[in-house]
Amino acid sequence: MAQARFITLEGGEGAGKSTQIQLLAEKLRARGETVCVTREPGGAAGAEAIRQLLVTGETTRWSAKTEALLHFAARADHLERTIRPALARGEWVISDRFVDSTLAYQGQGVGLEFINELKEMVVGADMPALTLILDLPVEQGLARAKSRQGQDNSAEDRYERMDRAFHENLRQAFLNIAKNEPERCAVIDASGDPAAVATAIWQTVEQRLTPPLSRNCH
Ligand code: TMP
Repeated sequence: MAQARFITLEGGEGAGKSTQIQLLAEKLRARGETVCVTREPGGAAGAEAIRQLLVTGETTRWSAKTEALLHFAARADHLERTIRPALARGEWVISDRFVDSTLAYQGQGVGLEFINELKEMVVGADMPALTLILDLPVEQGLARAKSRQGQDNSAEDRYERMDRAFHENLRQAFLNIAKNEPERCAVIDASGDPAAVATAIWQTVEQRLTPPLSRNCH
């Protein structure tokens, strides 16, 4: 069964996920909830070490299969050390990316069947109850991501450097996931200003996750 307090945010580059996650976590905390904010690749010590192998360096540094396996190795660590323990303590978990990113990004290089088999083995029943897919035109997202890179000067831009077709396919792949799993996924228009996006996200969370929210708030 999907984990009722587990929310993931997904989308292409520059969709504004980190800002939105902070805003969503603040709203939940204001209602008295304990929230674990985490990210992929990463979210646990070993997974963060694997992250460095994935987000830096040449775009061609891994074969598609190796890259998918590295993402799942990081995810196994993240689930074991961070996500499952937090859910077991009754906390909310909000993850900046999860398994849909592997389907959308690595699915372009290896068959979806390969990724779905790994998903079954590594994630199993621990799927999020709600996945918010932040959607915006590729050009706008890449421009935002570029200006962010300029600000923090990090070299974590390996995926941003993939070609334009890759990013267009990525956007479509996320929209297809949402279409195939409408009960779990909601597409959020992320092209507007952060406050408008935050309102749309909160409305969706309230609508879709009302039982766990109200149960905790009296
Ligand atoms: P971030 O920039 O959102 O922190 O994510 C790091 C990069 O990792 C991002 O460009 C997307 C990529 N990624 C994958 O390619 N596959 C995955 O499974 C995950 C979780 C991330």
